[in-house]
Amino acid sequence: MSKSADTGKGGPGKGEAVISLRKVTAELGSRPVLRGIDLTVTRGEVVALLGANGSGKSTAVRTIIGQVPVTGGDVEIFGTARRRFRDWARVGYVPQRTTAAGGVPATINEVVTSGRLSRARFGVLRRSDREAVARAIDLVGLTDRAKDSVNALSGGQHQRVLIARALASEPELLIMDEPMAGVDLASQEVLAATLRQQVAQGTSVLLVLHELGPLEPLIDRAVVLRDGCVLHDGPPPQAVGQHALPGHDHVHPHDADAEPVRTGLLT
Ligand SMILES: Nc1ncnc2c1ncn2[C@@H]1O[C@H](COP(=O)(O)OP(=O)(O)O)[C@@H](O)[C@H]1O
Ligand SMILES: [Mg+2]
Repeated sequence: MSKSADTGKGGPGKGEAVISLRKVTAELGSRPVLRGIDLTVTRGEVVALLGANGSGKSTAVRTIIGQVPVTGGDVEIFGTARRRFRDWARVGYVPQRTTAAGGVPATINEVVTSGRLSRARFGVLRRSDREAVARAIDLVGLTDRAKDSVNALSGGQHQRVLIARALASEPELLIMDEPMAGVDLASQEVLAATLRQQVAQGTSVLLVLHELGPLEPLIDRAVVLRDGCVLHDGPPPQAVGQHALPGHDHVHPHDADAEPVRTGLLT
């Protein structure tokens, strides 16, 4: 993937905020859902956004990509106010999966190609665009199924397609909302490997998770929400939970059947 070296960890630009939320408030159905949250992701960082169901994680992410209006505070992407930001090809977004896709049957290749259109001049795909699409499909291990309809896929395979779509534009910033939810173990391993590869080349990541799981080794910092407020911003809470106990075996991504570790902060 073509990405300049200065996006790497420790290189120039490190410490610069790629996402910055300050005192952000938001309402849904006239009910306050975000009550003044601060959230920063710096270049090359992997930040987990944690919290119980309904704590406001998806809403926070949706204010970043402009799907939920803010009622107060500031949202910046790559140092630009969100309402003036236009360079969406730099951002890959994987929404929280709801139900299986219905409607128009599209192939894996078509869905992933849709993620490349932001890079294609006048909507015309060149060879470099088709190659980037093929690389993204290969990264998630679906090359031999590229011409299959997405309707024929399992939940985990469907999630891999959404991730390939987000990667097709070769984004500098990846935002994923509960990528592991409802995903089979084989797909979880592919997903963890894909994310490791992205992180290794300097991509900044904001990851919404309900629980720290196999992605825990990749996470630099965790922000925990409760009732629309930031409860914790610092080391992943697992570091002060079971992982700190003597004799605890570290959970690696290939320990796919390991129980997710539950921490008091998340419930
Ligand atoms: N479209 C909506 N209209 C009204 N309330 C909503 C809507 N979407 C979410 N909410 C409420 O906002 C709160 C936060 O939701 P959400 O951001 O989805 O939480 P999380 O992602 O942490 O589970 C919840 O109480 C939820 O019921
Ligand atoms: Mg959510």
